[in-house]
Amino acid sequence: MAQGHKHFFHVVNWLSRKFFASRLSYSHIQAFIYNNSLRKLSNLVYVQWDIWRGNINTTTKPYILILETTNVCNLKCPFCLTGKGISGGREVRHMGFDQAKAIIDDVADTVYMLQMYTWGEPLLNKDSLKVIEYAKQKNLYVMLSTNATAMTPAYNQRLINAGIDYITVAIDGGSDATYKVYRRGGNYSKVLGNVKNILELKKLSGVTTPFVEWQFIVFRHNEHEVDSTEQMAYQIGINKFTPLPAYTEDEDWLPLSPKYRAEIFNPERLTKCVRPWSHLNVRADGGVASCCYEFFKKDDFGELGKSRFSEVWNNAAFQESRKLIIQHRRGKKLDDSQSICHDCLETGMRPSFLEADQMDDKSVQLVMLETSSMNVKNKETA
Ligand SMILES: C[S@@+](CC[C@H](N)C(=O)[O-])C[C@H]1O[C@@H](n2cnc3c(N)ncnc32)[C@H](O)[C@@H]1O
Ligand code: SF4
Repeated sequence: MAQGHKHFFHVVNWLSRKFFASRLSYSHIQAFIYNNSLRKLSNLVYVQWDIWRGNINTTTKPYILILETTNVCNLKCPFCLTGKGISGGREVRHMGFDQAKAIIDDVADTVYMLQMYTWGEPLLNKDSLKVIEYAKQKNLYVMLSTNATAMTPAYNQRLINAGIDYITVAIDGGSDATYKVYRRGGNYSKVLGNVKNILELKKLSGVTTPFVEWQFIVFRHNEHEVDSTEQMAYQIGINKFTPLPAYTEDEDWLPLSPKYRAEIFNPERLTKCVRPWSHLNVRADGGVASCCYEFFKKDDFGELGKSRFSEVWNNAAFQESRKLIIQHRRGKKLDDSQSICHDCLETGMRPSFLEADQMDDKSVQLVMLETSSMNVKNKETA
């Protein structure tokens, strides 16, 4: 069974690398098959047409929605900006159900998939279950990534009942000693118990969803545990095990095996970036980000709540970013620009994890000072 799984996902990954610049995943395929409609399909086709023609003022809408349901987290992962305690100039809060619902309503006719996280731990938001239920009613494929610390048997059953399609559990180790080196504040036997519980409940409920992926970020200190953890993961009923290269350039942390090292510099992938046409990425404070790699408020393209989706989607910031991407695709020199996409395209580097990597303690403290002077507190909306 495990071997069958592995071969299947190797084929999907190969197709993804070959034809979709590594952006196609199993969840995308499922969403396309199970959550389609004529309206979604025609929008998808027109988005590709827009990109091909270089249209920066688009009549199309996004086909993937990313809602950062919270930017609060209970762990302190050292290469994660949230884990470092940085707010990026944003209010640190959960996104309320009403806010999420309004955004879903604006784009549900064209969106295939709702991804319920960016930075922060989505299961800490008590409204996450309601958001899942609502998105399922609207025929969206719903997925999230969790550190699995806040799962309880009752919560797991409600996740299953709400109809969530895909859960990534982020557990980077096969023992407590290695796990807590990166997932600071977590407890290995507790998260493993939580994952076993949801797999057990799935079996008892006689359902096939959620599809559960175990994501294992590979570092120097845990690379020797990848194979044994993979074996164990399939034994307990995990659907997919993914050893994920870490986004960091810190040699002390990077694994020795080259196969587990990230392609942080990947110009080809950036040339094929389509996110400002395909994705609507909304942060917990309503900020509209260029993509999930963007972290700082200063780089946002707009803010929902203050503006409507229809006012933001073709505003100057979106048009600027689309123009730069088209210039890059066509091999032209990029115009000078303050857009975050400019440096991303020019350097081939993803902005966020690298910024975290490069921030020394002094600059982290400065950002935290700036944040505390804004008097932000973990705060829930309606
Ligand atoms: C910022 S987290 C937010 C979601 C949730 N808190 C979690 O950890 O799964 C989003 C994703 O980034 C991944 N991640 C965290 N640190 C990383 C790193 N250094 N390299 C690659 N991925 C990382 C997490 O495992 C997760 O899948
Ligand atoms: S990677 Fe996830 S669990 Fe770790 S600090 Fe960041 S948001 Fe929290």
